[in-house]
Amino acid sequence: MNRLVVVSNRVPLPSAGNHAGGLAVALDGLMEKRGGLWFGWSGAIGTGGNNVSVEQADGIDYATIDLTQDEHDRYYNNFSNGVLWPLLHTMPELMHFDRRDAKAYRDVNARMAATLQSLLRPTDLVWIHDFHLMPLAACLRARGVTNPIGFFLHVPFASADVLAAAPEMGSLVRDLLAADLIGFQTENDLANFAAAAELFGDAMRGPGNLLTMAGRKVRLGVFPVEIEPHGFADLADKMAAGPEASRLRASLTGQHLIFGVERLDPTKGLLQRLAGLRLLLEKHPQWHRRATLLQIAAVSRKEVSSYRALRTALDRDAGCLNADLAEPDWLPLRLVSRAVDRTLVAGYMRVARVGLVTPLRDGMNLVAKEFVAAQNPADPGVLVLSRFAGAAQQLDGALRINPHDADAMADAMDRALAMPLAERRERWQSMWAAISDRSPLAWGRGFVAALLRASSIVAVPDRPLRTGTGPLALMEPDEAGLVTDLMVAERTGEREKLRGPKLVPEGVQLN
Ligand code: G6P
Repeated sequence: MNRLVVVSNRVPLPSAGNHAGGLAVALDGLMEKRGGLWFGWSGAIGTGGNNVSVEQADGIDYATIDLTQDEHDRYYNNFSNGVLWPLLHTMPELMHFDRRDAKAYRDVNARMAATLQSLLRPTDLVWIHDFHLMPLAACLRARGVTNPIGFFLHVPFASADVLAAAPEMGSLVRDLLAADLIGFQTENDLANFAAAAELFGDAMRGPGNLLTMAGRKVRLGVFPVEIEPHGFADLADKMAAGPEASRLRASLTGQHLIFGVERLDPTKGLLQRLAGLRLLLEKHPQWHRRATLLQIAAVSRKEVSSYRALRTALDRDAGCLNADLAEPDWLPLRLVSRAVDRTLVAGYMRVARVGLVTPLRDGMNLVAKEFVAAQNPADPGVLVLSRFAGAAQQLDGALRINPHDADAMADAMDRALAMPLAERRERWQSMWAAISDRSPLAWGRGFVAALLRASSIVAVPDRPLRTGTGPLALMEPDEAGLVTDLMVAERTGEREKLRGPKLVPEGVQLN
């Protein structure tokens, strides 16, 4: 089996308890199952250079580099979060473009490529994740790396005319085309990318989502990220009986709980959500004292100005909403701005009658899927879901709304709060059916299988090879159900020739 090398900006280092958001949730299962190398930023600020820290746990090697303060400011805060994030979410008005930040972003990717190359073996499969690392495949190719390279974008891909607002975007699209396979959350993201590749990269789109340019081929694919639904359901069941969820339930004194949880991020539509709640209570006053919204909005990326501005605006709107609508014995809104442990969130979701997932734009939104998994099948809550979240493509049992339309949001909340049990069950069952036989592991395996198929190393028998006697007599296919010619080479004694440098080559210092 070829070693899998995952590359992401954040790395869930076991020693640091580092978080990597939905990305880590999506990848943990696959890495636990097959082991491999996970490479990226340590989460720490250092002095730069080629120092690599390596730690090992459960068959996974974690190799990370520090960023300098300037790199962190320009590559992570200013360009990744201040330009690419808003643009890819179709919010160009939040973008602050500066050529110096774009250069620092490229320089960090080039430095990562140099370090990663020194860790690679010829038989590795490289899987790069997310918008922080759009030039990385091209940087690796420029250094002569010929390994199969896949790229998966966890966030949406905006249309080309929106992206054109950033002068750097054309060359970033061309850089992405250095990968063998580029994966997206939805068909819409794929179509937007294909159009951008035609416009900026002189690519031609052929059948089977194949892009062709100047003798090279790049495969595109849709791979919606999944959660582990059964594990999350069990967790929610257990946590709903725990002390924290019990305290929450007792504090409701019979009111329905409306629940929302996300990072405090401009894409999440938090101000619009409060506008929807205000209208609910103005148009449908019967919910006064009978419903309350618990909104967890965990402060995030607070060095980026648009995030700080949102915090101020959210605090203001939340204060006004409570001051305008509260009664001496009732508050319509409870706003929590610190991060709450995912296990507690699972329990709170099960207590809730209504889940609000109303981003202005979102790649997938795993919270929507987690809310479904957390419900009690006998008495499930209702999901109110933005049609602009990738999850809306799969969850047709949700009440799907446009988050810019406060009336639609208010009416959906009213409908959800009043919904009879039979309809709640029917809607929940259709959503559970959409997620219950999927998993992050299957998602990861699907991508790796497609990467093997898209890259030139592939031989594609879909059953174990049985060729009589000799070294190929019985080979187990890898998890993708494929036997690659690299596997054949390993089996036939070519292994030594194919084997690359040790994990920590000379000249690379360990911390
Ligand atoms: C999103 C992105 C991830 C990112 C996460 C947390 O899910 O797709 O790449 O890691 O947000 O954001 P942060 O900036 O804290 O890494």
